[in-house]
Amino acid sequence: MSTVVLALPGGECLAAALAPQLDAQAGGIEFRRFPDGESYYRIASDVRDCDVVVVAALRDPDPLGLALWYVADTAREMGARRIGLVAPYLPYMRQDARFQPGEAVTSRSFARFVSQAFDWLVTVDPHLHRYPTLDVVYTIPSLVVPSAAAVARWVQANVARPVVIGPDSESEQWAGEVARRVGCPSQVLAKTRLGDRHVEISLPEPGLAQGRQPVLLDDIISSGHTMAEAVRHVRSAFGVGPVCIGVHALFAPQARDLLLAAGASQVLTCNTVPDASNAIDVLPDIAAAVRPLLGRPGTQAGA
Ligand code: R5P
Repeated sequence: MSTVVLALPGGECLAAALAPQLDAQAGGIEFRRFPDGESYYRIASDVRDCDVVVVAALRDPDPLGLALWYVADTAREMGARRIGLVAPYLPYMRQDARFQPGEAVTSRSFARFVSQAFDWLVTVDPHLHRYPTLDVVYTIPSLVVPSAAAVARWVQANVARPVVIGPDSESEQWAGEVARRVGCPSQVLAKTRLGDRHVEISLPEPGLAQGRQPVLLDDIISSGHTMAEAVRHVRSAFGVGPVCIGVHALFAPQARDLLLAAGASQVLTCNTVPDASNAIDVLPDIAAAVRPLLGRPGTQAGA
């Protein structure tokens, strides 16, 4: 069974790197906008009887929402056998409850939409806070690729005497696992969110410093305010600027400058969202998760 990898606009570099790791053909999508703003898509590869893997970089998901549907629907009309979505960053996971009457619980609506378009989903560290697993909202098989192995490899290779710090309770799942793999201490701070760009974060335990290099780790850096507030506290407690690692580089305008101004010594991310800060390669881990879904023998990604 042959496999064709198709990139949505913006996901080309991810798709080009993944296709050979999946022993798949890199297919083509032609895209342009009509003068009235509507979109034109053409799948320029034969996908009949093929497994199709759609690769999407969904940092800014709304302009690509309809593209997800159009490409999956067209591949199905063209006779594709199964159509999977590789979205290394899965958007719309943070609105996971209705806090005010009438609010859209976009995590649920987006999951229903994706579950109708695709046969399976592979993603990296989705923001699971109130949902224990993706299966609570996604009705298609979904596979979560943890970034912890790749992050831990980077920390081991680049940071002497690290201590891993998560800025809020949700980050325990990432910070704790990376620290366990590295074999170093970790701590999780407490965050109170007061607005989109206003958070309060508890102070780290000073006893943890002991000449260690703090590594702040969170799944998402968006406005940068969570990380920046944590950087300020950690810097004053440890006396050195922390290394900041975000799994998903969403980076709203000025977020990076905010972190550097707060005193971060380095800001780096995994390559789930193409960005200049990408320093940690999780694509082999994604390929290792996808291969069995395509009936390919598994590969050994980072343990
Ligand atoms: C939410 O709790 C996430 O884990 C991140 O901490 C959050 O999305 C970061 O957002 P921002 O950079 O806007 O503070």
